[in-house]
Amino acid sequence: MSQATTSKTATHGEQFMHAAEVEQGIEAIVNAMRTQAAELTDVRPGRDELRESYEDLMARAAAARGRGLLYPYLGSGLGNGALVELADGSVKWDMICGIGVHFFGHSDPGVVAASIRGAMSDTIMHGNLQSGFEPYEFSELLLEEAAKGSNLKHCFVAASGALVNENALKLAFQKHGAAPRVLAFRDCFMGRTVTMSQIGDSAGNRVGLPLSTLVDYMPFYDEGEAARSGVQKQIDIGCDHLLDYIKRYPKQHACFIFELVQGEGGFNPAPREYFVELMKICKAHDIAVWDDEVQTFGRTTSLFAFDMLGLGEYVDLVTIGKMSQACATLFTEAYNPGPGLLSATFTGSGSACKAGSEIVRRLLSGGYYGADGLIAQHHRAFKEHAEAMVAKHPDWFPEVEPHRMSPSPVSHVGGCGGMMRFSPFGGSKEKVGRSLRACYDEGVILFSCGHGPYHIRMLPPLGVMKFEDWPRVFAAVERGLAKVAG
Ligand SMILES: Cc1ncc(COP(=O)(O)O)c(C=O)c1O
Repeated sequence: MSQATTSKTATHGEQFMHAAEVEQGIEAIVNAMRTQAAELTDVRPGRDELRESYEDLMARAAAARGRGLLYPYLGSGLGNGALVELADGSVKWDMICGIGVHFFGHSDPGVVAASIRGAMSDTIMHGNLQSGFEPYEFSELLLEEAAKGSNLKHCFVAASGALVNENALKLAFQKHGAAPRVLAFRDCFMGRTVTMSQIGDSAGNRVGLPLSTLVDYMPFYDEGEAARSGVQKQIDIGCDHLLDYIKRYPKQHACFIFELVQGEGGFNPAPREYFVELMKICKAHDIAVWDDEVQTFGRTTSLFAFDMLGLGEYVDLVTIGKMSQACATLFTEAYNPGPGLLSATFTGSGSACKAGSEIVRRLLSGGYYGADGLIAQHHRAFKEHAEAMVAKHPDWFPEVEPHRMSPSPVSHVGGCGGMMRFSPFGGSKEKVGRSLRACYDEGVILFSCGHGPYHIRMLPPLGVMKFEDWPRVFAAVERGLAKVAG
């Protein structure tokens, strides 16, 4: 809590939180964790004596959820930076981090200590009716940074990216009265509630769902096309599409949802001027500009991607999640809703909120941002290693097959900041899928993105990653790809 207290004014709760025994207890836990974590220094295979019990755990997990896990991954509860130990004793490089959640890696002393403090409250969860200050401390930190470059004024905390997106959508609908339609980019992803599965542009994610949300899809900026026919052509195509929809459905759009770097859609970036022109049209036609930063948050060269691109003056609604642990919808005064629209039993757990605040503070004070911050430096290191692999194995990297409806990449290596991709085997779904599994077996956990072409994606723990880790990670990647190529 930020208010100053003295031993006279401190509540019993505060005295408990700061008691000497508590401080010593946390230190003891963190030290014991460090001692064990220090043993995890490199990739290693699972232990023979644990194989049977691990297979049993995998079978039980599959039975409980009704289908097997994508990767045979069950964590042991310990890791060391970018290395994670699984319950079979194996150790792997984690280059996907729960799809972008563990930016400070595994068993980070500061994050673990913060989450223990959060867990010490009288209740496990904070709620909208009864809460400690933790969700609001987290909100204040976000708002303070957001206010530097935008008009965002308020923040509502919830437990997942899909839920904060639901909240943003409600704010847009309420503010824009009877406007029933939403604009979104092709290939976007927004989460998996019934509504978000409809807006997200993946047919497989909405099989069997009744379609009740009216979505108009916009083409996303195509880097490959821009390289051939110019940036302005891409801007013109986007603006023409948008104006066409507005003409077809006048005053019927509540919002336009932007992912400033597309995540699931293929780590597709776009230049500032592209977004500016589209956002200006939204402003002129009273359509809310909603920036979904659930995946980009913290990961570009600014805390908020809208700041990296200088788009703060345009955004009305911003949603964040993943690495922040607790998730949030930020909004301007004009979008502050009437009573009753936003609430829920939970805002978040004490651990998630405390860890979220610790993470935001560290991100802002750790030298991560700016053109030469740690995130930019890591992106350069990634690029160097990925490009060296492409140059060494040109046969693994034939030209990426362009897709008529999705952006085509300008090169085999791309992304933005901590969103990193490379594109082997022409972007083939089948071969990229096999590469993921082969790399996993060689000790590096990756994932894919894109809907054709398919890419290999990394969301590495840049908060703790060392530059000397990169060659070791790429050695494992190279072994994995060699298996698929061979
Ligand atoms: C851009 C974007 N929005 C929303 C979500 C949904 O977040 P969650 O899975 O926490 O519900 C995701 C998740 O990948 C995302 O990438």
